[in-house]
Amino acid sequence: MWFVKTFASLLLITTCSCLLAQSNTESELAALMKKMLLFIKSERTALVAGKTPKKTSVNFEGIVTAKPTEGKKLLPNHAEQSVKLIQTIKAYQFSNNLSDKKLQFNLVINTCLDCHKQVCPGPIEAIEKNLLQLNGQ
Ligand code: HEC
Repeated sequence: MWFVKTFASLLLITTCSCLLAQSNTESELAALMKKMLLFIKSERTALVAGKTPKKTSVNFEGIVTAKPTEGKKLLPNHAEQSVKLIQTIKAYQFSNNLSDKKLQFNLVINTCLDCHKQVCPGPIEAIEKNLLQLNGQ
């Protein structure tokens, strides 16, 4: 059994170095991604509390050009998918109505996941658990 676990973790390490990034070697893109995850978490807390936050200091636009970890290959359509994310975040921020904002929030998360399923599965669980249950909650 142990070797299955070892193999699985080796596989995870080789398919995605994302979770192993050390602060001194952290790429521009990885640093930005971490900020985005923090943003997502704090927005979620606010939404659950019934607030509709507007401002953020995260430079989402940077995801199109930020340099990835050395040796990390981006998707051929990385720019296109990044622009899609930026658009969903703008729509989310533009929205004032709480239930609409929750809907837009989940679209943001799903756009994160669309890319991560293809290029970097490591953080999927951490991203996915922020999805809001829409009906009733
Ligand atoms: C267009 C593709 C794409 C989209 C969209 C995307 N990511 Fe990423 N993400 C990446 C890539 C590529 C990496 C690896 C970066 C590196 O190693 O330099 C990454 C890395 C990460 C990491 C790991 C950072 C680390 O090294 O610790 C987290 C967390 C993350 N993303 C969260 C998110 C969140 C949250 C969203 C949505 C708001 C998101 N990502 C949207 C491609 C994407």
